[in-house]
Amino acid sequence: MYFGADYYPEEWPRQRWHEDAHLMADAGFNVVRLGELAWALLEPEPGRYDFSWLDDAVALLHEHGISTIMGTPTTTAPPWMLDLDPDVLRVDENGQRMVYGSWGNFCLNSPAFRLRSAIIARAMARHYGGNEAVIAWQIDNEFGVFDRARCYCERCAEAFRKWLRERYGSLAALNKAWGTSFWSHIYTRWEQIPIPRRTHTKHNPGLLLDYARFCSETTRSYLQLQAGVVREEAPRQPLTHNFLAAAYTHLDLFALAAELDVAGWDNYVPNARWVDAALSHELFRSLKRQPFWVLEQQCSYPQWPPYANLERGLARLLTYQGVAHGADGILYFRWRTGLIGAEQYHAGILPHGGRPGRVYEEIRTIGQELRQLEPLLAGALPRAQVACIVDYDSLWALEFQPHNDSLGDPWSYHRPWYRALRLQHLACDFVQPAGDLSLYRLIIAPALAVVSEEAVRNLRSFVENGGVLVLTVRSGSKDVHSRMVDKPLPGLLAPLAGATVREFDSRPAGAEVAIRFTAEEWAEGEARAALWFELLEPEGASVVARYGSGLYEGGAAVTWQPVGRGGVLYVGCLGDEVSERLLPALLRRSGVRAPVAIAAPEQVEVAIREGPAGRAVFLLNHSDAAREAHLQGPGEDALTGERLNGEVVLGPYGVRVLRM
Ligand code: GAL
Repeated sequence: MYFGADYYPEEWPRQRWHEDAHLMADAGFNVVRLGELAWALLEPEPGRYDFSWLDDAVALLHEHGISTIMGTPTTTAPPWMLDLDPDVLRVDENGQRMVYGSWGNFCLNSPAFRLRSAIIARAMARHYGGNEAVIAWQIDNEFGVFDRARCYCERCAEAFRKWLRERYGSLAALNKAWGTSFWSHIYTRWEQIPIPRRTHTKHNPGLLLDYARFCSETTRSYLQLQAGVVREEAPRQPLTHNFLAAAYTHLDLFALAAELDVAGWDNYVPNARWVDAALSHELFRSLKRQPFWVLEQQCSYPQWPPYANLERGLARLLTYQGVAHGADGILYFRWRTGLIGAEQYHAGILPHGGRPGRVYEEIRTIGQELRQLEPLLAGALPRAQVACIVDYDSLWALEFQPHNDSLGDPWSYHRPWYRALRLQHLACDFVQPAGDLSLYRLIIAPALAVVSEEAVRNLRSFVENGGVLVLTVRSGSKDVHSRMVDKPLPGLLAPLAGATVREFDSRPAGAEVAIRFTAEEWAEGEARAALWFELLEPEGASVVARYGSGLYEGGAAVTWQPVGRGGVLYVGCLGDEVSERLLPALLRRSGVRAPVAIAAPEQVEVAIREGPAGRAVFLLNHSDAAREAHLQGPGEDALTGERLNGEVVLGPYGVRVLRM
């Protein structure tokens, strides 16, 4: 387990480094991340390098048992970059070029930027490739942050057209794919195709989807460039990157993670949304089906609203949530609150004055605990029998056409299902539609809008072999060019569903409709649905629930069709209650068993890692009041040795790790 912080020795006098290293070692740190914001200090002018200060920091920390994850510093290009390319700065959706300042605002298609990025990455990798204190590389910093993955400059427009040319071959093919006769957009020269800057109403959905793909591929090719040179010079050190949370959808994380050895992300959580943090952790574990790293874990007050400090115990809770879902590296952002620069109001473990206080003590305690848990956690991971499908084409298509103000976040379709699984303490993997589904018994495919023939074949073989598949609203509605399909919905998925969508209705938040379960083997009573309602026409499937009121009163809302040795549930509406009420029957039918017999209130998350030393069960109280969980069997507190059964009390934001 790696445990440490993001450290900026360049901000502090050297005399202080010793004390920092000493305090870090005392807190149980074995790793820091260095260098990712320091380009100007490492290469003060093009081709002149100074690694001496960084060498000293790496060496000093290593003497204290602390290794380094080295960051390539390419989000912080020095001002001299503008001498090499005056147009290096990104252009936003309004066509406005950024000014120099801040960070990360460079066009990833700038030849000068790409060249200089590769040069500094190579110089650093050559220098540190053989250094045993450097155990990994973080390439760049937070791809996709601040819309940086979507540049709208003229150079990107040209590159986009070239990309389209390669993809479509001819304008005739492109015009057909995008349906450009609508609003008379028929292109007769490639140069006419716009990069989708702002217009007063909507762009063509095909253009938007291709632009999203192009942008994600641009970031991927930039990552590939750096990864390539670092691997050449430092073949023994693994590569990682600190992506943003799942909710940031500009990048196809599966495609980008394929370039890396370890997936990583930065966890800055709004406190109320613990389910979202869990979802991100599980997504990052799924990207490589391996333990992942949290490269920036919030530990104190952030520099954005609501600016509030974390409550006592919350940093510990957030840390354990990551560990529970399979993180084997946690680094806090940042070691010490800065005295200089724009982030003076973003707190680190140590306050401005540098004297260890409450946060340091909390983290030091976590360090001691994690050392104690090491034997139990070694080789242990969550084992998922359930997976959710994630498809970036679908997320993008829905992002551009939410058709509902409350569905602007395309993860809105996953969240109710993911939440329901979490409340049943079930681990959930995330897979792509054409990925390996054979490991799972239950697959949930929320709003799989863009569907290929290949995906349909994969899903069909999953159910024919005994799997249970859940399809939901908006599924199969789009082809790969984001055109609506010329078929009753769910389009290519209709034969699997055994039902079609007669019509649909999207309503503002608050306009709830009850659905009534009509087949008691599924559920009884009612559940509230909201935002999106589809009136289903069973074509072989049986009805599981009907609308109890509203426009579609009496009509089918949920259907079930057995297929091969498995079956398909089509859920034509959205809502936490809908997912929660249907899940128990889905688990029974698919043979997914409750992983552990613990009754816990909604705010107490239960997550499990299984490995050679047994099961580690994490009880995580995400509320600011004490809560009780009820164990239906014996367990032992892995930290205190206390034997437990029945009622277990967790203090506010309390955590318990049980050996069971
Ligand atoms: C992250 C970034 C860090 C720092 C932090 C706090 O997005 O990677 O460098 O800026 O936020 O603001």
